[in-house]
Amino acid sequence: MGFDQNWEKSYANNTHLSVWPWSDIVSLVNRHFKGLISLGRGARVLELGCGAGANIPFFRSLGMDYSAIEGSPTIVRQLHERYPDLIDKIRVGDFSQEQPFQNIFDIVIDRGSLTCNTTKSIRNALQIAFDSLKPGGGFIGTDWFSINHTDFKGGQQFDDEYTRNNHTEGQFVGVGNVHFSDEPHLRDLFSKFEILFMEEKIFQRHVPKDNHQFASWNIVAKKHTC
Ligand SMILES: C[S@@+](CC[C@H](N)C(=O)[O-])C[C@H]1O[C@@H](n2cnc3c(N)ncnc32)[C@H](O)[C@@H]1O
Repeated sequence: MGFDQNWEKSYANNTHLSVWPWSDIVSLVNRHFKGLISLGRGARVLELGCGAGANIPFFRSLGMDYSAIEGSPTIVRQLHERYPDLIDKIRVGDFSQEQPFQNIFDIVIDRGSLTCNTTKSIRNALQIAFDSLKPGGGFIGTDWFSINHTDFKGGQQFDDEYTRNNHTEGQFVGVGNVHFSDEPHLRDLFSKFEILFMEEKIFQRHVPKDNHQFASWNIVAKKHTC
């Protein structure tokens, strides 16, 4: 199972419309891909699951050649209205099944999108991302939920031990599949890549005092040069 229609429903209901660039993406691109930033127009970036396009202004401000695959036709239609010059570059599709572009990319970006899939679909998506990268190209994944997130205990297990759905409370209500990772699982998923950076963010809520813990992973990985 790949793209989950809950996302199409969310966008049709005008929810989950994040439109500000995500700061971890900005930091990690700057920290790990400075060379590509200086390349400017020459650098090609592919976003997996662009949603409402929060990261688009950032990559355009760097002069990068931006493309994206997104499963929701509703949100892609809205992006085409906002960015008519990206009509051929933002395509409706399931990133765990296909990469519709002929291009080979310098960076593949994923902010919270692969983590909406099962382990099997994530493996497929990472293989497609790997094949889409130039040798030496990089993958940046942010906000991959961690098994240390409170909501790993919520909802029901689906398809594999790391994937849950049907959350009835918390931030994952109505979004369908949510995948939670630990370090060995990430190392296994990224075994074809060289992992350059991996961090787990843990935020413990103190007010209100409800013992809630947010936890997610950021990862930067590289395709070997040969
Ligand atoms: C949490 S949103 C993140 C959106 C965007 N990356 C951002 O940072 O604002 C996850 C997005 O991934 C898309 N998505 C999830 N699984 C997908 C799949 N298998 N193929 C295509 N899109 C997918 C959803 O439709 C949704 O737009």
